[in-house]
Amino acid sequence: MAKVKTTYFCQNCGHQSPKWLGRCPSCGDWNTFVEELIEKEDKNEKGSWRVSTTQKVLNKPKAITEITYSEQPRTITKDKELNRVLGGGIVPGSMVLIGGEPGIGKSTLMLQIALSLPSRVLYVSGEESEQQIKMRAERMTTKGDNCFILSETSTHNIFKQIEQFEPDILVIDSIQTLQSNLIESAAGSVSQVRECTAELMKYAKESGTPVFMIGHITKEGTLAGPKVLEHMVDTVLQFEGDRHMAYRILRTTKNRFGSTSELGIYEMQGSGLREVSNPSEILISQREEELSGSTIGAMLEGNRPLLIEIQSLVSPATYGTPQRSSTGFDAKRLNMLLAVLEKRGGIRLGVQDVFLNIAGGLKVEDPAIDLAVCASIVSSYEDISIPHTTCFAAEVGLGGEVRAVNRIENRISEAEKLGFKEIYISKYNTKGLDFKQFNIRVHAVAKLEEIFAQIL
Ligand code: TYD
Ligand code: MG
Repeated sequence: MAKVKTTYFCQNCGHQSPKWLGRCPSCGDWNTFVEELIEKEDKNEKGSWRVSTTQKVLNKPKAITEITYSEQPRTITKDKELNRVLGGGIVPGSMVLIGGEPGIGKSTLMLQIALSLPSRVLYVSGEESEQQIKMRAERMTTKGDNCFILSETSTHNIFKQIEQFEPDILVIDSIQTLQSNLIESAAGSVSQVRECTAELMKYAKESGTPVFMIGHITKEGTLAGPKVLEHMVDTVLQFEGDRHMAYRILRTTKNRFGSTSELGIYEMQGSGLREVSNPSEILISQREEELSGSTIGAMLEGNRPLLIEIQSLVSPATYGTPQRSSTGFDAKRLNMLLAVLEKRGGIRLGVQDVFLNIAGGLKVEDPAIDLAVCASIVSSYEDISIPHTTCFAAEVGLGGEVRAVNRIENRISEAEKLGFKEIYISKYNTKGLDFKQFNIRVHAVAKLEEIFAQIL
């Protein structure tokens, strides 16, 4: 007879405690402990991935020089953005977690990838029925006949099917719906999610089958409950973007097989997700005339240079307190830049409403966008447009100084590639930079005033 045992789990970080606690000693959050039933059953119980057979093998320490390995080829998918974020294709036996808010397009992305792969893919969904998935597949332009659908939530049954079916790649949508019968608590609870992940991990490592696992993210932006999950898996990809906008970013936040500064960009269309191989072109709106308040900044997203459009509107405040509103740009940073412009540039922004918008629904954290933001605000304030063949790449300091940013060559050459004629950068960025190699006029400045004297 199995012994029934309960434990308390912090729903935020997964910390375990034998008794209820008001405050989690691990993550410091209040009132996050929930009692979960765990039934410790016989270890040889079927359900988890081939428990009985593997436990007979005893591992011994080996000298590192004695260990042999053969480089297993990665599966290169048709999706170039996915290959890039994975560090060059799918690694055999790897476990990839794809996190994102509900409705962002995780299921769409995974189904599309599953359809495009030439190998046998088993797509296990605990969220949608087979018909629903078929309907989704019908909408997509990607068609494939190597994708098999299983609507199931019990890991026991899933592994039974896997043993017979032997897929080349496994997709789980989503980990929060899975349930292991080794544990009593409800699906989505910390102990369930952890157990199911451990079982899938074991399967991935022993069979060498890559496993893609979808995980939902809570409002606070953490993977629902299980932060635990993040360090169990090999790769964590975040799928993000504004739900009302078409663009989606797939970002690597952890990767045991590649760099974490990679990024893939997609556009959500009626027929699935489209890879965006040249993002700058779509982020800069095609406009005929030059408008005041609109500037282009050369930023880096991961390792990729991107040129994005910043728009601002500065108008006299009609109510007592001037409004400041920004979309896609940190509001605190905007306030700081406004203060710099007021103090160092002598522009009376204290009595103006300021609205700032980054085109395309992107969120920008790269400080190199500062200069473009300042130029955009001044341009709108003075109502003088800046030529749309001019772009900016520099950080602005509290003293109104124009500061250097990293990888300036990449930014300049991206601007050049897109046909820009002039770029403003920091004077401190010019060391070792050969201006002659670029077919674009590079202006190196040290202070904000210098720029405004030149362009306004
Ligand atoms: P979905 O993949 O279900 O999101 P998640 O799995 O992350 O919760 O994506 C849902 C949204 O995507 C939904 O609002 C409809 C939209 N969509 C398209 O715009 N085009 C398409 O071809 C598909 C399949 C979905
Ligand atoms: Mg989904």
